[in-house]
Amino acid sequence: MRGKRVYITGGSSGIGRAMAAEALRRGAAGVWISARGAERLEVARAELKALAQPDQIVGATAVDVSDQAAVNAAATEILAGLGGLDMLINNAGVAHVCKLEDATPDEYRRMMDINYFGTVWTTLAFLPHFRQQRAGAIAAVSSTLGQMGLYGYSAYCASKFAVSGFFDCVRQDLLPYGVSVTVLYPADVDTPQLAEENRTKPAETKALAGTASLARPEDVAAVSLTAIESGSYRVAPGAANAAILLANRLLPGVTRWWIDGELRRFWKRNA
Ligand SMILES: NC(=O)c1ccc[n+]([C@@H]2O[C@H](COP(=O)([O-])OP(=O)(O)OC[C@H]3O[C@@H](n4cnc5c(N)ncnc54)[C@H](OP(=O)(O)O)[C@@H]3O)[C@@H](O)[C@H]2O)c1
Repeated sequence: MRGKRVYITGGSSGIGRAMAAEALRRGAAGVWISARGAERLEVARAELKALAQPDQIVGATAVDVSDQAAVNAAATEILAGLGGLDMLINNAGVAHVCKLEDATPDEYRRMMDINYFGTVWTTLAFLPHFRQQRAGAIAAVSSTLGQMGLYGYSAYCASKFAVSGFFDCVRQDLLPYGVSVTVLYPADVDTPQLAEENRTKPAETKALAGTASLARPEDVAAVSLTAIESGSYRVAPGAANAAILLANRLLPGVTRWWIDGELRRFWKRNA
């Protein structure tokens, strides 16, 4: 991380903000964050600046990652501001959870526009730079729910699964260029996004999620940056989370049986 220039989307809050702080602590030459809300972004930038050494660059750009033209304009500004880029972290995201029949077409589109297309547009905007540089790292924050479905998360899950498919191809494309690719699959993390999800979670989802532990954004940030630095491809922060995703990959029938069982027990208790 020492001497590296890092750009993190969704850096004004939660995991993104914690990753920005951790990158500065690890000696990054510069950290740039982005988000839509200019006020919260400026607060985060000022806090990061206070944490930084005098020679570390800290910058911020307000941009909506679902707007491709705005993302392209921001990329030019960020490359100039940092004097290049070594690490791109696609972290910006939103979540929505509700019963399947309550998910509106707009919610399905919003999840795809931000979580999936936001990641695609940002990655494509920096791709020529990384190809030319023939070095660096590109990462995306997916979710545990980017590998397995969970009651209530139909729109969110689909958008996070899509990120995995896109990055499978990006990774192959970048093999000859020496640019590493990392996809992160965090479980529940104590952030404003999770607080927002908790407002609309169906009782079934609460019953299922209630058995999972809550990670600190700082811990997820530290594991994530180490994974990106080392060029690991698929990383699930947290031991329990990693075990669940491993089981889901090796024995998907068993994880389905376990989740279905929890759901059926919930419905029986509440019949
Ligand atoms: N928290 C969890 O339990 C959890 C678990 C697994 C995966 N994740 C993923 O981790 C990532 C970070 O989530 P978090 O929990 O840290 O959420 P958070 O605290 O709500 O932060 C989300 C960040 O993304 C920005 N953002 C949202 N929509 C954007 C857009 N259209 N354009 C640009 N920036 C946008 C937000 O700022 P503005 O709203 O101002 O734009 C904010 O800076 C997300 O991709 C999320 O899906 C979270």
